[in-house]
Amino acid sequence: MSNESPKTFTIKNYGCQMNVYDGDRMAELLSAQGMSAAADKANADLVVLNTCHIREKAAEKVYSEIGRLRRRDGSSPMIAVAGCVAQAEGSEISRRAREVDIVVGPQAYHKLPEMVASVARGENVVDLDLPGLDKFDVLPKRRKTGAATFLTVQEGCDKFCTYCVVPYTRGAEISRGFAELIDEAKALVDAGAKEITLLGQNVNAWRDGEQDLGTLIRALDQIDGLARIRYTTSHPNDMTDGLIAAHAEVEKLMPYLHLPVQAGNDRILKAMNRSHSRDSYLRILDKVRAVRPDIALSGDFIVGFPGETDAEFEDTLSIVREARYAHAFSFKYSPRAGTPAATMDEQVAPEVADERLQRLQALINEQQTAFNRDTVGKRTSVLLEKPGKLDGQLIGRSPWLQSVHILAQGLSIGDIVQVDIVDAGPLSLKGEITMRAAA
Ligand code: SAH
Ligand code: SF4
Ligand code: F3S
Repeated sequence: MSNESPKTFTIKNYGCQMNVYDGDRMAELLSAQGMSAAADKANADLVVLNTCHIREKAAEKVYSEIGRLRRRDGSSPMIAVAGCVAQAEGSEISRRAREVDIVVGPQAYHKLPEMVASVARGENVVDLDLPGLDKFDVLPKRRKTGAATFLTVQEGCDKFCTYCVVPYTRGAEISRGFAELIDEAKALVDAGAKEITLLGQNVNAWRDGEQDLGTLIRALDQIDGLARIRYTTSHPNDMTDGLIAAHAEVEKLMPYLHLPVQAGNDRILKAMNRSHSRDSYLRILDKVRAVRPDIALSGDFIVGFPGETDAEFEDTLSIVREARYAHAFSFKYSPRAGTPAATMDEQVAPEVADERLQRLQALINEQQTAFNRDTVGKRTSVLLEKPGKLDGQLIGRSPWLQSVHILAQGLSIGDIVQVDIVDAGPLSLKGEITMRAAA
């Protein structure tokens, strides 16, 4: 517990892209209050742990991190636990870890400055209010950004997949307004962003009246200086024809789609409450590929869901073969307290789930490598995002979100360059510069 007003802060993000976005917004908010990012993180006056609750051991990791924050002299910085573990565990956190001063959920972090002031007065604060979009009215205007950046357009989830904590930690589905989003996108572009990834737990459920995500993307297309648009994560049931058509019409919309299916067997999909079938998922892909044959498909998979048999798991392997992924995340099912699946009978033995995960990952890696190899010999645009490890090396992304390593002098982060892809591995591509493109 600290009774002084903190002057420096550090924020540690643990979760998904929206968690990172929230971390950036908290940093902007604290900076606008006159605090500064600590040059030496170990000596920050305020530490914000921006947590994730999606899979097991998330909470345990946070408690051990809190323990590590104690300084040699026995004192601690001011500690705020934010994010989805904060929302799920609530005041249990400050009961278990007395050094925690603030517990703040993902929809209440705009109140951090007041909370910090309360702590400086000697109080402890817990705020798990889920007010929806209030924070966006209070957060400062965007002034700092990388070349590729995130913009939250939609939050929360009404789907209630039986394994998932997100509907409880992020609240109900809610969309930010069209005009406000265009303003934030313009501010990001003015601050130097070339690429914006629209974020939502179900981003394609974004609506403002009659307008869907396709409409929003078409409007963003009009912003001068914005070169690339992406969106993630999508739910199969919200994949509207308008959004699919945008993939054909909007050149700035990158050919990449993260569309999780989770499993390939209809009985398991039903038990997961996914509300789409194997076939309806594959038909959506047909529609997308009809307008954008080169789309890089990405997905999420869960193996070892309660009751999953060997034959049902084989259906997951077969849908991967049918769908053809450029990239995918796969996870072992992790029981989450309070979700329906956690108390289902027939939990799958860990060694069985391990073996399934290995087989699935081997197949996904094979597909990912093949997808990358297919780009060798192509000339494509790359947005340079960060320095590489080698002298003169820069790392950027292809339209298909592959990491491309380039050795070249005279280029800067934020440049969009035409590159010949000369080599490919499972995780990245090697490119050579052919010509400079106007960004
Ligand atoms: N809203 C997105 C992402 C949710 S979380 C979507 O619906 O696709 C990201 C991924 O974590 C999920 O797609 C799922 O594959 C995985 N996940 C969620 N809960 C899980 C659990 N209890 N165990 C294992 N993986 C889980
Ligand atoms: Fe979780 Fe399902 Fe909602 Fe995705 S759609 S956030 S997996 S409940
Ligand atoms: Fe994790 Fe919350 Fe994102 S649980 S995945 S940080 S929505």
